[in-house]
Amino acid sequence: MIAGSGRQQGDTARIFGTMKVLMVCLGNICRSPLAHGILEQHAAEKGLDWEVDSAGTGSWHIGNPPDPRSVAVAAKHGLDISQQRARQVHWPDLEAFDLVFAMDQSNYQDLMTMAQSDGEREKIRLIRDLEGSVKGMSVPDPYWDDDGFEQVYAMLDKACSILVDQHAT
Ligand code: 4NP
Repeated sequence: MIAGSGRQQGDTARIFGTMKVLMVCLGNICRSPLAHGILEQHAAEKGLDWEVDSAGTGSWHIGNPPDPRSVAVAAKHGLDISQQRARQVHWPDLEAFDLVFAMDQSNYQDLMTMAQSDGEREKIRLIRDLEGSVKGMSVPDPYWDDDGFEQVYAMLDKACSILVDQHAT
């Protein structure tokens, strides 16, 4: 909440221009590239002029394309994420973006540790909290589970639909 205003972080961007949303996971090759592609697609479908990006808290995969299993599940749903390249999240992202979504509790804690002000901390959310029912749920890391990618896609599709519906007029 912005002190005294009754507004949430992101409202100002919503009213005055482009909303900038960052999706964050550990490696930036499995979950957050999917979230990035799915949100871009949903925002475009609703005519929202949003800027979406993704990043990882870890550095192992910097410069790499998304995991082939994420590329495949996206393609199955009509989405091409193959041109994305992994990068590491860094502190200026918390200034530059209006909303920063963590895929799991570990990403969330890493981002909160990186934040240097209440304003930055207020931008950081767990993506599954958008579901509104049970708070604190994570998107499971599918890196070691070939069968997990479809479930991850479904979770992210649901969360991204809710997010754009909250902002579409
Ligand atoms: P992501 O999945 O955080 O969804 O991109 C992972 C990708 C790579 C590794 C771990 C998780 N890794 O240990 O290399």
